[in-house]
Amino acid sequence: MEKLQAAIEKARIQRQENQGQDPSAVPQPVPQEPVAKPVPKKPAWDELAEADLNARTLRKNRLVSQAGGKDAGPYDMLRTRILQQAQNNGWKRVAIVSPHSGCGKSTTVANLIFSFGRQKDLRTMVLDCDLRRPSLGKLLGVPCEHNMRAVFEDKISFAEHGLRVGQNVAIGINDGPTGNSAELLQSQSTTKILDGIEKTYNPDIMLFDMPPLLVSDDNFAFLKNVDCALLLVEAGKTTVKQVDVTERHLAELTNVMGVILNKCHFSESAYGY
Ligand SMILES: Nc1ncnc2c1ncn2[C@@H]1O[C@H](COP(=O)(O)OP(=O)(O)OP(=O)(O)O)[C@@H](O)[C@H]1O
Ligand SMILES: [Mg+2]
Repeated sequence: MEKLQAAIEKARIQRQENQGQDPSAVPQPVPQEPVAKPVPKKPAWDELAEADLNARTLRKNRLVSQAGGKDAGPYDMLRTRILQQAQNNGWKRVAIVSPHSGCGKSTTVANLIFSFGRQKDLRTMVLDCDLRRPSLGKLLGVPCEHNMRAVFEDKISFAEHGLRVGQNVAIGINDGPTGNSAELLQSQSTTKILDGIEKTYNPDIMLFDMPPLLVSDDNFAFLKNVDCALLLVEAGKTTVKQVDVTERHLAELTNVMGVILNKCHFSESAYGY
């Protein structure tokens, strides 16, 4: 054994002498090629493009809750009530529904974007599911190139289409109306894509701006995908019969979170508030 080790050492010294090296030098480690460290993936929310908002457009479209304060009061109160109901019942997906058109669903949902946005500890997702007459993008004054149909049909990902308002609200808007919405809204693809979006972005609450319930079958097709619906009616316009019929339909389709009376001119205001 000792003979073998001596022979190996002698061979090493000879090899180094032949190469013109100092045999007493300590062998240096061969420099390694630098290995690229994996770049940590950016969180999905950070990757969403930020919506470019214009304060004048918002105000023109009755979006009054951006800056908070007195004007935002009713929407902040609605936000807080929605959150309480959702947390108490373990609900996450809330559809905003009305019996007929023009009750103020989209305006309310758009205002809630900012009210929820000010709730910094929460992540909120708002999707325009009125595919026949979408208006959320127009109200916000934000153009877009695609629509939620393409997302639900898996032609484009939410990561490419969705936008971020501030740090903690994600919106899915539409570039224009599309047809055959009921078929799409009740498809398995829509259910699957929604589940995927929820899994990726893990929002605390999801709001869906819906078309009016009594004028098409879109709500009947889609509401199986939500946990509850909030019924919004228009003061002085929606009849008691319409409220009654819509509420009964909703109760068959999902949980009814409550009823909002919108555009009400008479409200009690407490001094100083
Ligand atoms: N609280 C409110 N006070 C006064 N006007 C309002 C209020 N909310 C909404 N509006 C107005 O009512 C009209 C209809 O609003 P909006 O488009 O939000 O209704 P909608 O329920 O989404 O209608 P659709 O069913 O056709 O989508 C708009 O002109 C909007 O500015
Ligand atoms: Mg609308």
